Amino acid sequence: MLILKLGGSVVTHKDKYMSAHTGNIQRLAMEIAEADTYPIVIVHGGGSFGHPVAKKHGIADGLVDKSQFFGFSETHQAMVKLNQVIVDLLLKAGVPAFAISPSSMIRTDSKRLNELDIGLIKGFIELGLVPVLYGDAVLDSQQTFAILSGDQLIAKLSNNLGADRVIFGSDVDGIFTDNPKLSPDAMLIETVSISSHEANVGATTHTDVTGGMLGKLSEATEAVRGGADVLMVNAFVPGRVRSALRGEKVIGTVLTL
Ligand code: IPE
Repeated sequence: MLILKLGGSVVTHKDKYMSAHTGNIQRLAMEIAEADTYPIVIVHGGGSFGHPVAKKHGIADGLVDKSQFFGFSETHQAMVKLNQVIVDLLLKAGVPAFAISPSSMIRTDSKRLNELDIGLIKGFIELGLVPVLYGDAVLDSQQTFAILSGDQLIAKLSNNLGADRVIFGSDVDGIFTDNPKLSPDAMLIETVSISSHEANVGATTHTDVTGGMLGKLSEATEAVRGGADVLMVNAFVPGRVRSALRGEKVIGTVLTL
């Protein structure tokens, strides 16, 4: 059982509002088809679709005013649109993808995912289909609504499905000693032990990119604890996701206990 996260930075042009990175999506769809590693579940992020809309309407922190209902729905719609592009291109590439809307089956509690209808997801997998889920605008039992990140979803899916391997595809090679986009001396860390990473979190959350990676890291920690091998790779490099799916040794960061 494999789980693949395609980060928002990979499937969208991050600086261009609601612009899908169809070139990347097409190539990755081919890589997933060529890897031929089933069963697999795919989860994608929001990038320039979900994030700006959610931010504009303050969806992540919950209901303040009823006028947000439109923004709540628009955030979901933005994700549905991106999901449609991704699922269509997966199908074209020969991957039997099936879109599953997280907001239709998940409610968070103070932004945290508790319950998940795993039986439903297993049903699709048993048929030989590839469920494709995403970070979404969901109902929340404490704050009316919230944003569920794809990373949080992955941790839960991994533990409930007993995933062997979780692969996070992003726009960097993995976890670095410093922000690789700002610091030329930053070095890739090939193995990160989750039991020692907590100590470093405070010191390095000052940048978005690193913060993003560390946020990912804390969700990924759950998957590692659940017994999955967790790998972070650069999905912009052609062939890397395909090799990672096949279990070949690739440039990236492996998370261990
Ligand atoms: C965000 O999902 C989803 C919404 C904003 C609705 P993620 O948090 O997983 O997205 P990326 O990968 O960071 O873009």
